Amino acid sequence: MSPRWGANLCGRLRHADPPDIARFKAAVTPYIAPHRPERTTVAYSMTIIEEANWKLVIENNRECYHCVGSHPELLATLIEFALPDDPRATQDFQALMQEKSALWERLSLPHLPADGGTEFRRIRLPFHRGAVSFTADGRPASTRLLGELTEPDLGSVRMFRVPNNWNHFLADHIIHFRVLPLLESRTALKTTWLVHEDAVEGVDYDVEALTQVWRATNAQDATLVANNQRGVSSKGYRPGPHARSEFMLSNFTDWYAQKLAAYIDAAGASRSVIRLAEVV
Ligand SMILES: [Fe+2]
Repeated sequence: MSPRWGANLCGRLRHADPPDIARFKAAVTPYIAPHRPERTTVAYSMTIIEEANWKLVIENNRECYHCVGSHPELLATLIEFALPDDPRATQDFQALMQEKSALWERLSLPHLPADGGTEFRRIRLPFHRGAVSFTADGRPASTRLLGELTEPDLGSVRMFRVPNNWNHFLADHIIHFRVLPLLESRTALKTTWLVHEDAVEGVDYDVEALTQVWRATNAQDATLVANNQRGVSSKGYRPGPHARSEFMLSNFTDWYAQKLAAYIDAAGASRSVIRLAEVV
């Protein structure tokens, strides 16, 4: 699929009716409410410009086939498996999942994956054994846990909703990523780190330690998506199949195709909206 499709669809989204988020809100609220996002403050935020279409940026986020070979800082703590019953899961992961599930259930914290279809994702998954946060050594990034939480080992609630964000809710901080298309092959990625509203910089947390892992990961992904952009822009590009484990990637491209088909139907024969002959 041509990267131009991404630019065209994004342009049309600005004029679309706002989506109904009631189901999404009902599904994610029990998971994220204990982290009390309304009682956080921005510890740090940054925007990087990625030389790629927004669709490539989202696709890169939705798949983790590239993670092992690209993100050493992130994979020091993050487990790449996307589901408790991931077919690639090891016995050690299954034992860890059972152990952490029992802990979270004792704390009345939900963790099972939601059936968000192609629109959203919501699940709580553990870090590697011994790690509790996205830091270089796995220790908490903030000693002031969120809300009224007292247990630091809550894994992370991984949540996203199409078309433009992904998020992690930990015991000690929250990370929000927002994608904003700028040009046909240029995208802004804003990353925001949130900590407890009473946490004090230099006392409870250090911005360098808080942001180190994802700043490195974002930079690595920026290189990957720029390479992908060059690849799909090449006359020699031919699309291939997704890895079977990358169901989130397939969900996203399915959502994208459904949206595009709906816009084409709505546009009818109007050449002013989507001119397929010019974008494929
Ligand atoms: Fe990545």
